[in-house]
Amino acid sequence: MSTAHRDVVVAGLADLRERERIVVEVDGLELGVYFHAGEVRAWHNACPHQGGPVCQGNLMPRTIQPLREDRKNAGPAFHPADRNIVCPWHGFEFDVLTGRHPANPDVGLRPIPVRVEDDEVIVTI
Ligand code: FES
Repeated sequence: MSTAHRDVVVAGLADLRERERIVVEVDGLELGVYFHAGEVRAWHNACPHQGGPVCQGNLMPRTIQPLREDRKNAGPAFHPADRNIVCPWHGFEFDVLTGRHPANPDVGLRPIPVRVEDDEVIVTI
């Protein structure tokens, strides 16, 4: 088994910015590549719960529970900026930028090194 890594262009930055998420296969490895809040991330398309295709799940605003001035519950709302990837199999959520599960930071997506050069999105596999 080879341990050599190589760089692969998976998208143009403008295309990824517009689509927010693409799922690609490189050498048999499926990965999701995301653009959010000016940042680019790449995650293995395998959910840490039971291996579901997490990167094919919806990208949703993170649910929050704001308090009113009297400290009473104002009801559920959506965070204005944070986005979670929602696994299509059982609904586990993961922060798109950190890959972490919001309730258990020990659980998360496996990252793939990704960078932007000359308006190309490049992963290292
Ligand atoms: S496999 Fe993703 S939530 Fe179960």
